[in-house]
Amino acid sequence: MTGVVGLLAGIRDVGRDRRRGGWSRFAYSPAELTLREWFLAEASRRSMDVEIDRNGLLWAWRRGIGGSLDDAVVTGSHLDSVPGGGQFDGPLGVASALTAVDLLDARGVAPTRPLAIVVFPEEEGGRFGEACLGSRLLIGDLHPDRALARTDADGITLAEALTAAGLDPSRVGRDDKTLSRISTFVELHVEQGRGLIDLDRPVAIGSSIIGHGLWRLTVTGQGNHAGATLMTDRRDPMVAAAAIVVAVRDTARAFSGARATVGRIQPTPGGTNVIPSRVDIWLDVRHPIDAVAEQIVTSILERARPLAASEGCEIALVKESYGGAVDFDQALRNRLAAVLPDAPHLDVGAGHDAGVLAERMPTAMLFTRNPTGVSHSPEEGVEDADAEAGAAALADVLEELLR
Ligand code: GLV
Ligand code: MN
Ligand code: MN
Repeated sequence: MTGVVGLLAGIRDVGRDRRRGGWSRFAYSPAELTLREWFLAEASRRSMDVEIDRNGLLWAWRRGIGGSLDDAVVTGSHLDSVPGGGQFDGPLGVASALTAVDLLDARGVAPTRPLAIVVFPEEEGGRFGEACLGSRLLIGDLHPDRALARTDADGITLAEALTAAGLDPSRVGRDDKTLSRISTFVELHVEQGRGLIDLDRPVAIGSSIIGHGLWRLTVTGQGNHAGATLMTDRRDPMVAAAAIVVAVRDTARAFSGARATVGRIQPTPGGTNVIPSRVDIWLDVRHPIDAVAEQIVTSILERARPLAASEGCEIALVKESYGGAVDFDQALRNRLAAVLPDAPHLDVGAGHDAGVLAERMPTAMLFTRNPTGVSHSPEEGVEDADAEAGAAALADVLEELLR
């Protein structure tokens, strides 16, 4: 089997999560390292020059006239996943990029400019809690010391994970040499909503991404014995956390266009017969206007304080990461629209490395229809014909940009 469907079939069993269901492919885990090797092998098979940059991004290059690597058109996506996620979020963009190269070869397109495929590590923040870590390190939006000190659920730092993967943590950081080579970036991604189902189209062009922040709210009380502590004698942070989760939902509902989610909550020490001493609640807050996202978090904090106090608990809030709202480059979008006149234009609620790179260069996105409209879940899907239509659309766009 060839094409996107054949490529994805080759990695379907990598990182399957028997406990959660779906796929767990955390950055620099054995599963993601296997996918990175798979990508490098597939790119080499296509006579692309492969390299791993200072920040752990994978690159595969087709040189331009005279062997040039400057003024490159770049496409690609990520291979890591959320815990128990779907198989397409990330890998669809990488497999579509490899297939687009095959299609350009089959069409006999001889690029005058270089073409590269990039794979970004830790787009999801699923291991180290820092969304779009690789692209943010590349553009210098994330301080290397902060990134390297981030730990995973087992207390392993990014620095340790990089070292274990054969990378040198001391070289991590803004990479102007690599950035200066890229003229344009286009990321293809599975759609993570119902836009294309409702419009009955296979492929869309991205218009904008809403702002996206992650915060950690820590509720502290008194750890104690579940049997020996009377209900009237407790300072239980889990009870406060439960009320705060409801307040998060209610606060977001009061702001038009807002999304706020608590998808992860961790009691310490986490014993069935133990009143926790502390509960960490991770907040994912998004809004098309960055200032409003901040306001939502402020409102959540204002509501959370008395809820915690009424249980005799205290709270502290830490911002873990923020990616601002993005409008994709209008001139580039117009070029994509000329190549794909039937593709609708969609505003998207999910974050992407393309949104990070948009701060530094003209950037665009393509979306392939997802028949379930569900994502960050094993139920995420892509029909075979749509997968190939997406890759063909990407090839059309690259052909135009390589002119
Ligand atoms: C990444 O997919 C995100 O939007 O969280
Ligand atoms: Mn995702
Ligand atoms: Mn993604």
